[in-house]
Amino acid sequence: PLDPAEVSAIIQQNVHREGPLLPILHDIQTAFGCVPDAARAPIADALNITEAELHGVISFYHDFRSKPAGARVLKICRAEACQAMGANAMSEKVLTALGLGWHETTPDGAITVEPIYCLGLCACAPAAMIDGRVKGRVTAEALLAEVAP
Ligand code: FES
Repeated sequence: PLDPAEVSAIIQQNVHREGPLLPILHDIQTAFGCVPDAARAPIADALNITEAELHGVISFYHDFRSKPAGARVLKICRAEACQAMGANAMSEKVLTALGLGWHETTPDGAITVEPIYCLGLCACAPAAMIDGRVKGRVTAEALLAEVAP
């Protein structure tokens, strides 16, 4: 459950900074594990922006989530070099096997799959990241073996 007092405390701590929005979003996500929908109106109000503008920022930065992540987080690179090495078909396989779409979490809360756009491992494409550790030359089978053994 979202504690509105905690949300407004986070807003107040940051609102006087230059460019307060990103620090607020980061702090909210640290506190709640995500940027809950219920936090959007107070943030938009405090910064005098519309909820549509806020939504634009949240979706632009792929790190912000609207729901808490699962116990394990698999990020698959969807940028150009990885796509050229079959990342799309590989991602489809992984998502289908887990029964997920992008940004979704398995019902048991075990795994979240998210897209990421270049991990700096283009020479070892396709690349992915599991719980913050990067991996090159991955296959759907190897990823699934690791996250869903
Ligand atoms: Fe995937 Fe660079 S494009 S790591």
